[in-house]
Amino acid sequence: MTRTLMWGGATASSQYEGAATVGGKGLDTQDVRPWKPRTSNATCETRLLTASAVAKAKADLAAREGNYPFTRGTQGHDHLEEDIALLQELGIDIYRFSLSWARLFPQGDEAEPSPEGLAYYDRVFEAVRAAGMKTFVTLTHYAIPLHLVEAYGSWTNRALIDLYERFARTVFERWGSMIDYYLPFNEINAGYFSPWNGVGLLRPEDGPYDQSAVFQSLHHQFVASAKVIRAQREICPDARSGCMVAAFCYYPHTCSPEDNWIKLHDEQVNMWYPVDVLACGIQPYYMDAFYRDHGITVDITDEDLELFARYSCDFVSFSYYSSSVLGAADNGEQTAGNLVCSIKNPYLEASEWGWQIDPVGLRTQLNAFYDRTHKPVFVSECGFGARDRLEDDGSIHDPYRVEYLERHFEQLLLAQQDGVDVLGFILWGVIDIVSAGSCEMAKRYGVVYVDADDRGEGTYERRKKDSFDWYRSYIESYHATH
Ligand code: BG6
Repeated sequence: MTRTLMWGGATASSQYEGAATVGGKGLDTQDVRPWKPRTSNATCETRLLTASAVAKAKADLAAREGNYPFTRGTQGHDHLEEDIALLQELGIDIYRFSLSWARLFPQGDEAEPSPEGLAYYDRVFEAVRAAGMKTFVTLTHYAIPLHLVEAYGSWTNRALIDLYERFARTVFERWGSMIDYYLPFNEINAGYFSPWNGVGLLRPEDGPYDQSAVFQSLHHQFVASAKVIRAQREICPDARSGCMVAAFCYYPHTCSPEDNWIKLHDEQVNMWYPVDVLACGIQPYYMDAFYRDHGITVDITDEDLELFARYSCDFVSFSYYSSSVLGAADNGEQTAGNLVCSIKNPYLEASEWGWQIDPVGLRTQLNAFYDRTHKPVFVSECGFGARDRLEDDGSIHDPYRVEYLERHFEQLLLAQQDGVDVLGFILWGVIDIVSAGSCEMAKRYGVVYVDADDRGEGTYERRKKDSFDWYRSYIESYHATH
């Protein structure tokens, strides 16, 4: 039987809440990222911080200098009730939001959570439930308490697994009865492409990352995921656990056998590796060869492997914005994509930021995830990042966003007809938030506009874009016919 899909919207604490030090919140790894736009031909460099960059950021923030967009977000912390009322009017079934680890545990290693942090998320959960929406909670969306980076070496240190479990247990004990779906981590494969965002690794001042540190950190996050799921099953067994990766729908650059091999191999390491561990409960064979060939050593215990086998997730989810092209020879013109760069695909158009628009890729990814895991699949993020214009009369016309969504929804429904067990679709940045990749306000995803610019100036007033009414009536007519 085909499920009735859930339609949702999402934000992430570091891109949305602001209030970076309100209620004793500690600084986290996103707060210290300076404004540094990432253009269509950029690499991932903008997201990587060295120890000296962090020291400068801390000095700037203490002196109230510099432009640090994540400390402001879009002031979601101060617009909570208004925003939830807008989401209720939009008619979404489910709201995905993330918790700020540093709002609940400012340093990350306290024995007890912050009372102010608890009080804030009490309000969030109660408001979402009162509005009749299901909750989809991301325990961490990139933001790691900065103290854990500086004092522990972040996720390279096995001690973070227990600290994370303490944080997760706090969440489940307090709000577990109000959690419908959750993810232990956002885009866990970001640890590989974007080690600052994903696993909080400082970029060495004078050289590349140590890949053993990167993969050891990722492994620790996998173990933490399994322990979080174990805790949830004890405390609030009705919640449903997921894993999440950034999906790129890879194509080989040409039909040469070498390009096809590169495509398969990169796809395994970049995308399937966490899914195989977290959803299928196995340490995949191809990683042994990858570690050997790259001189990487990772400490994996028998107990870790047992945890993977016993505590795999209930559903799989992924973010999808664009597809990517990979090739053996470095002879293609590059363009940016989410977390990664890609060779340009001549069959596709791209956004102003170079992300290649590929609705059919969504159907392909849904089939690929289901085929690999045989678990229900959630599209936990998708949307169109664009520059919107606020007209003099207060309206915002965004037909490009409507077209993007319409074309992707068609493919989502086709995947369901293919037989994929799809749970739902969650629109990324449903209320405008700061872009995670480029730190810009200029790159917006929302159906609700927030009046703020890249310098943080503006009223932060909320306004409905044309896409708001379009999404609302799409959901309404979907439910009237399903
Ligand atoms: C995903 C992240 O990778 O892509 C989000 O989970 C992010 O945090 C989204 O905002 C879109 O990327 P960007 O760089 O356009 O904000």
